[in-house]
Amino acid sequence: MAYRARSTPWIERCIFHSEYVLALNSNEPIGFLRYSWFWGKIPYMEMIFVTPELRRSGIGRQMLQHWETLMLANGADVLMTSSVIDEPEPQAWHKSNGFQLQGAISLGSFQPESEVFFIKSLSQ
Ligand SMILES: CC(C)(COP(=O)(O)OP(=O)(O)OC[C@H]1O[C@@H](n2cnc3c(N)ncnc32)[C@H](O)[C@@H]1OP(=O)(O)O)[C@@H](O)C(=O)NCCC(=O)NCCS
Repeated sequence: MAYRARSTPWIERCIFHSEYVLALNSNEPIGFLRYSWFWGKIPYMEMIFVTPELRRSGIGRQMLQHWETLMLANGADVLMTSSVIDEPEPQAWHKSNGFQLQGAISLGSFQPESEVFFIKSLSQ
């Protein structure tokens, strides 16, 4: 799987604004969720990652639930995320965790594959 690299200044910005959820095991990081805000209003999960050998043990779901609680407390109605169109595994994870596929867009020369977007409603 190809991970979309983010620039160091962007990572530092997200850390500065506490836009990370970290999963720790005995103080060692085993996963993270990084987010920002679409239109400055809608929480947008940029990336969720769990250490490969610890996947399918509920860590990703726990980070998502923690983030959801944080975002609800911030007044969010919906969550957004996206994935490269040819990555079926994370898309299956998103769907099984309440995200609904809304559509795909081409990002032109920035990225050859389309990006698919998901929404999770928090108001039900
Ligand atoms: C996507 C990712 C964060 C999921 O984290 P995880 O800790 O492995 O997932 P969880 O154990 O919390 O999964 C919870 C449930 O989601 C579903 N699920 C998890 N992975 C799945 C997959 N590959 N396909 C289908 N369903 C999946 C299952 O229902 C699972 O429960 P179950 O194992 O009891 O059936 C992890 O696989 C990962 O780091 N992938 C690489 C990075 C990536 O692609 N990130 C997303 C793109 S931004």
